[in-house]
Amino acid sequence: NSPEKGKVTWKAPSNIALVKYWGKRPVQMPANPSISFTLDACATTTSVFFEKKEDRENFSFDLFFEGKPKEDFKPKIQTFLERIAKYLPFLKEYNFTIETSNSFPHSSGIASSASGMAALSLCLMDIEKQLNPSMDEAFFHAKASYLARLGSGSACRSVKGSLVQWGQHANIPESSDLYGIEYPFDVDSVFKSYCDTILLVHKGQKQVSSTVGHQLMHGHPYAENRFQQAFDNLDKLKPILGSGDLEAFIKLVESEALTLHAMMMTSSPYFILMKPDTLEIINKIWEYRETTKIPVCFTLDAGANVHLLYPEAEKEKVHDFIKNELAEHCENGQYIHDQVGKGAIKI
Ligand code: PMV
Repeated sequence: NSPEKGKVTWKAPSNIALVKYWGKRPVQMPANPSISFTLDACATTTSVFFEKKEDRENFSFDLFFEGKPKEDFKPKIQTFLERIAKYLPFLKEYNFTIETSNSFPHSSGIASSASGMAALSLCLMDIEKQLNPSMDEAFFHAKASYLARLGSGSACRSVKGSLVQWGQHANIPESSDLYGIEYPFDVDSVFKSYCDTILLVHKGQKQVSSTVGHQLMHGHPYAENRFQQAFDNLDKLKPILGSGDLEAFIKLVESEALTLHAMMMTSSPYFILMKPDTLEIINKIWEYRETTKIPVCFTLDAGANVHLLYPEAEKEKVHDFIKNELAEHCENGQYIHDQVGKGAIKI
């Protein structure tokens, strides 16, 4: 009684880590726990059309990105399907047409692997649910996150909102290396609508893929201390998130960002992923915070772009600051205003 054909569509957001995941163990297990804000505006929408086929030996799929066939993404999807096939037995029974598009500008330098893998995993789980209608919501989301993790580690944090924790931690009940969970402790309301403006310093291809980056933590001289620090920072974050202590939040989040980059600068081979404008922006953020006392701070991904984080109540003033002082350091003056969101939705 499995459906002959159908279509499912999911929209999944990107996420930005506060405590970073950097370093992994097989298969796609994090070397340390991490936590992220789920974003809202930066998202991927994916539709999967499925139709029964005769052959049950091979995967069969076509891929369209923003309306056009996308051959160069196919190997990545093929590898992903091979990896998850044992968890979704129906995969070889259907032809799939995958249509995907991003809300953020084309090649803006924002990684779409987290939102993309989350959206695709949710679509596939949706089909799985049609075959097993009694599946409960909690299982559905946990398994979607589990599958997304096998596509791209941080993608497992893009299924739910607004704060998602991934990676086993003795002091966080139900935390798991296998999937992300909604942060289970009290969170002050200031963090439920926190703003993130992504300053697009450099839109080109990343200098180091995250796959290579994670590998650089093997045999890294500071790896063990760094992993321990991430565990400790998750402990420290609990009272900070609970009380809304922005001063402590800023210290922890900026330190995490710089530590991520410090790991890359001290690995072998070594990399500098910041650009001169990244540093100009960081200095201007520090100066602005010092003079105005407005609690803005930054975080970074494995690249040159800067995420500017601030409470919603400061939005107007901070937007002026961005327009007047930071935009000149962005490639073509480009930035994206985003905010903490509620997680993926079915469309
Ligand atoms: O999900 P991956 O394998 O692309 O790793 C991403 C890691 C960082 O974005 C640099 C940090 C994080 O926790 O998101």
